[in-house]
Order: sequence, then structure tokens, then C-alpha cells
Amino acid sequence: MEKDEDMHQTPTRRLRRRITAAVAATAAAGLAAAGAMLFAGNASAAETLGASAAESGRYFGAAIAPNFLGEEGYANTLNAEFNSIVAENAMKWDATEPSPGQFNFTGGDQLVAYAEDHGMAVRGHTLVWHAQQPTWAQGLQGQALHDAMTTHIAGVAGHYQGKISSWDVVNEAFEWDGSRRQSNLQIQLGDKWIEDAFRAADAADPDARLCYNDYGTDGVNAKSDAIYDMVVDFQARGVPIDCVGFQTHLGSDSDLGSYQQNLQRFADLGVDVEITELDVGGSGSAQANVFRTVTEACLAVDRCTGITVWGITDKYSWRGEETPLLFDANYQKKEAYEAVLDALNAGGRRGPPRRGGGRAPPPPLRIACTPSRLP
Ligand code: XIL
Repeated sequence: MEKDEDMHQTPTRRLRRRITAAVAATAAAGLAAAGAMLFAGNASAAETLGASAAESGRYFGAAIAPNFLGEEGYANTLNAEFNSIVAENAMKWDATEPSPGQFNFTGGDQLVAYAEDHGMAVRGHTLVWHAQQPTWAQGLQGQALHDAMTTHIAGVAGHYQGKISSWDVVNEAFEWDGSRRQSNLQIQLGDKWIEDAFRAADAADPDARLCYNDYGTDGVNAKSDAIYDMVVDFQARGVPIDCVGFQTHLGSDSDLGSYQQNLQRFADLGVDVEITELDVGGSGSAQANVFRTVTEACLAVDRCTGITVWGITDKYSWRGEETPLLFDANYQKKEAYEAVLDALNAGGRRGPPRRGGGRAPPPPLRIACTPSRLP
């Protein structure tokens, strides 16, 4: 029997999800139909990452820095290949709230406007993280830090309410051994800070899918076990969580033996899974094969809603000389690009929504009929 994962959601969130699911399913069907018309002779011959991902009801995104949008190669590649973006840094706490209660949405707003103009979805990254906190927050203690965290979430997720497909509500809260990372949040606020963050995000943007996001979760291991247990616990206690993000920062020799199995076990809990920050150090076919394996794994998991690579070009990768992306420094397609496109074109359409609205929707690709906020 299929489990009705919606039963874990609060009634209002459940209703919103059902309506969003219906609209998103219509959007996905429309995209698939558009794809079929464009590529009438061969439905699996889409020529860009975004178009090919859309054929299976998924997105293909990139992390973007607003200051590069004026560079022709950067913008042209983004526009041609991607149908979702995430701010590489512009929506983080230090960028959005440089002093207490004083918000700065300049970079994030620029990205959201760009996405709206170009029909792209926007992932939100990230509301609460131990890194890239403003200095003033790093020094807070106890209730003051708790209040700062919830004020920050309300301010940022509230500002972008209705415009974000999924938020990385909490980023990187676990250690390799599955224990909680001893961040200022953990030390000052104790275990409950993660669920408090999710509840605050739910209140601020009931329509966004709410994700927990982490790295080193590229298989069944102690860290992914701990996150899995957290999702089970949240669902049992009605803490809103919709998705788990797998950053997927890899090398060409990464062991992906249980990568797909790991995605699937989360999906089986009734949360969506997303590849959120994919990059693979290396070059040539070794690098391409890792990209291919990750893409195939996502396509094999019905609830894997899409893939985001952590940048467009090796020229601006946060991993410097590791050349971990799909386009080289001159925006030329690499072997890894061809591997990803081939895998997308070969792959698995996401199944239709289950009866009763049990499957959460793919992220809303920008369409005219996005449902208005429900009471
Ligand atoms: C990185 C950015 O790419 C860099 O520009 C910045 O200096 C540091 O952060 N995990 C995450 C991302 O969740 O936010 C990080 O992004 C990369 C690792």
C-alpha cells in the first residue's frame, strides 16, 4: 500500500500542497507537451539541460552570483541551459541581514527578478547555517540567538513568500558521525533549534517546500542515517519538512555505490529529494561518469525533483582549480555536460501524482496560474 505522506502535514499545509500539486502537475504536463511539440520526431532529444530535465517533470538549475549576470557568456549559458537558479551567496544570513533587523535584499531580489523574466524557478539557500552568519549574530547567546534566528527566517522567507520553490531551511547541522555539529546554534539553543527553524519557515512561507540540506550524504552512512532519523522524527511529531537536499560535492573517485539507494530511502519516507549543489572535481571521462551516475540516480527516483549544479563555469567555481562544473572557463561544454544531457534524455519521467495528492509537486516552474496564498 502506498503511504499517504501528507498525513504528516498540518491540515492547512496539506491543503496548500494538494492545490499546488495539481497546478504543478498541469505545469509539468504542459512542459512535457511543449517538449513533445518541439522535438516531435524524437521526444528524448532535448538539446539543453533544462529542456531535457523538464521532459521528465524536473528542473535543472545552477547557483548564480548576481554580479556575473552582466557577462555575456555567463548570461547566455544560464538562459540557454537552466530553468532554475539558486543564489550562491546572496540569500545567506550575512548578506540579507547585515545588522540586526536591517534587511538587505538587493542581490536576492535581482536574482528573483531575473528568474521571473526568464521563466526560471528559484531555490532558496539558506535560512540558517553555522557559516556566513553576520558577526553580530555569532556573538549572541540563549534566547537572544533564538529570537534573532526566528526574526531572520520571518524576514527573509517572508520577503520572498510565494517566489521560492524550495528553501534550504537548515544547512549542514550534522557531523560525519551523525552527531549534531557543535555550532553556535546547537550550543546555545540545544537540539530543538532545527525544528524551531522549520516551524518559523512554515509560518513565513506556507507554499515553499522546506528542505534540510547537507553534504557528505552521498550514500547510506552515519550522517545520512542521522538525517533520516530526524525526518522520521519530524514526521511523527508534525514538524513541517518537505524535502532533503543532497549537496553532492564530489570528486572523480567518489564512491556512489549506495547513492541512489540513499535517495530512495528518503523518498520512501514521503519527502522529496533534491540534488542541490552538484560539482565534481576532475576532468574527462572520470568526471563525466560521476556526473552521469548522479543524474541517473535522480532520474531513477520518482521523488527526485531536480538537480542544481553549484555554478555554471569552472571560471567562477568556489572549488578554484578543481574544474568541477559542466562548462569550462570559456563556457565550452565539457564531456561531463554531454554525460548529463545523455542521462537526462535517457531517463525516467516522474510518475503522475498519487491519488489523494500523496506526491508532493515538482517545484513550480514559473507559470501564470500559480495559486494565490490560501487562508
Ligand atoms: C560557498 C560559495 O560557493 C562560496 O562563494 C562562499 O565563499 C562559501 O560558500 N555548501 C553550501 C554552500 O551550502 O552555501 C557553499 O557555498 C558551498 C558548500
